[in-house]
Amino acid sequence: MTKKILVTGGAGYIGSHTCVELLNSGYEVVVVDNLYNANEKSLEVVKKITGKDLTFYKADIRDEKKIDEIFKKEKNIFGVIHFAGLKAVGESCQIPLTYYDNNISGTLVLCEVMKKNNCKNIIFSSSATVYGDPHTVPIKEDFPLSATNPYGRTKLMLEQILGDVYTADKEWNIVLLRYFNPIGAHECGDMGEDPNGIPNNLLPYISQVAVGKLEKVNVFGNDYDTHDGTGVRDYIHVVDLAKGHVLALKKLAANSGLSVYNLGTGKGYSVLDVIKNMSIAVGRELPYVITERRSGDIATCYADASRAKEELGWQAEYDISRMCEDSWRWQSKHPDGYKE
Ligand code: NAD
Ligand code: UD1
Repeated sequence: MTKKILVTGGAGYIGSHTCVELLNSGYEVVVVDNLYNANEKSLEVVKKITGKDLTFYKADIRDEKKIDEIFKKEKNIFGVIHFAGLKAVGESCQIPLTYYDNNISGTLVLCEVMKKNNCKNIIFSSSATVYGDPHTVPIKEDFPLSATNPYGRTKLMLEQILGDVYTADKEWNIVLLRYFNPIGAHECGDMGEDPNGIPNNLLPYISQVAVGKLEKVNVFGNDYDTHDGTGVRDYIHVVDLAKGHVLALKKLAANSGLSVYNLGTGKGYSVLDVIKNMSIAVGRELPYVITERRSGDIATCYADASRAKEELGWQAEYDISRMCEDSWRWQSKHPDGYKE
């Protein structure tokens, strides 16, 4: 029988790419998204790419009654891939209560409804941010955890809360996926990241410089202890990340309790490396200027992703040049994202 998967936040950046991989792998997909940070058009693109249909509910995961109705209407939901959440670090420092309410209360409501409807399989979107400032790299899953801002704390607390849920009831199957830095877009160029306002993250910022919407890239510091002094991160293609979720579902099916995986490539690239690769993809030198460090940033962060390889059979396939080419295809075809 086809398995039905509920994808919260499925209209968003990582969610929409994951819907494509789920449909291509033969799963039935039900999306719940309040469209706070997404455009329904992304789901039209999902359908176009796959030639398959999905069910969409515009709903907030904090709305217990509505989420329960969806579970009852859809009947046998096998599992939930839980992307829905707010994710901007800076904003989380300004409006922490909104972040705690949306991310934490939202997940509590979701899990309560899941339990009530006897659906105890969940994959949760965590982040490399839970490692804080790691003592060494590459980062392994058993490294110490900490958080330095409200967004990071919501991820850390939710990991702990889900751990408690599992300890109390071993019928739950839980996979925590810690993403490193997702970038890139679907190769068709019609689905990608569509941030509101001026982007905070590096790749969307560079893309907007490339398309002429922003003047130049601000490189936040060149005095870090890295090969060229700029910050090093583990950028991972969003399609590789999406495929990791499909493999993680198989893990849930195997009835294996609570597991944690890093999803990264295991390779670190500096800000200047990324600007260079984007310049090649775009076909011209992109302008940049060195500025002050951004507060809260760390020097180096990249994954040891060997556990995901051993236990899920997952490994990132796309390299940095492909990530930049796909980011550029999306940005150049859709300078205003889905808003056109
Ligand atoms: P996104 O903002 O594009 O997607 C999140 C989606 O959730 C959006 O479509 C939004 O409208 C929806 N949403 C938010 N609150 C909701 C609510 N209360 N009810 C229903 N829908 C709601 O972000 P993304 O980049 O696709 O990230 C997905 C998940 O992965 C998030 O939980 C994020 O914290 C996590 N994550 C993202 C990154 C990254 O760099 N993009 C890195 C690590 C972890
Ligand atoms: C950020 C979040 C992190 C989140 C991750 C994925 C912060 C402090 N951290 O990580 O919690 O999990 O996104 O969504 O926001 N940079 C520039 N100029 C720019 C933008 C960034 O030089 O305009 C540099 C940064 O200093 C960093 C690198 O580029 O060295 C990557 O930055 P970014 O894309 O914001 O991701 P992270 O800071 O790694």
